[in-house]
Amino acid sequence: MLEQFSYLKEIDSSRTYLIKGLQTIQGHEGYISDDAILAVAEYFSVPDVEVEGVVSFYAQFKRSKPGKYCISVCDGTACHIKGSTMILDWISTELGIRDGETDAEGLFSIETVACLGCCSLAPVLSINGKVYGKLDRKATIKILKEYRNNG
Ligand code: FES
Repeated sequence: MLEQFSYLKEIDSSRTYLIKGLQTIQGHEGYISDDAILAVAEYFSVPDVEVEGVVSFYAQFKRSKPGKYCISVCDGTACHIKGSTMILDWISTELGIRDGETDAEGLFSIETVACLGCCSLAPVLSINGKVYGKLDRKATIKILKEYRNNG
């Protein structure tokens, strides 16, 4: 097993715990890399294609390394009604990446999430946990520019 993932040793290596192993890696690394797939396959004694299948089946697992700024666009009911898909489109156009992707500089990544718990501010997004609400196109682009200028 790759040394980078030695913390897997704290988990039972029975394949029953394969998902727990993946969750643990994502907790440490922020995503599931190609090396992580190989390490999990080796540790739980399953073919790597099977691990890849599990990772792609469950939406909770990310295959791209998150950006320095992780943008979470809320697509809960209240935000959806108030235009969350447009917000996602505006961000995608501005940054040149789609849902689930990270930009080439590693600065921004985008994900859609369920309710962020502040529906009265819909539509809402958060960046590294900081919430921005009542968004329109102008406000959304301004927020992105501020983060970009901060590097
Ligand atoms: S639905 Fe978006 S914050 Fe609740």
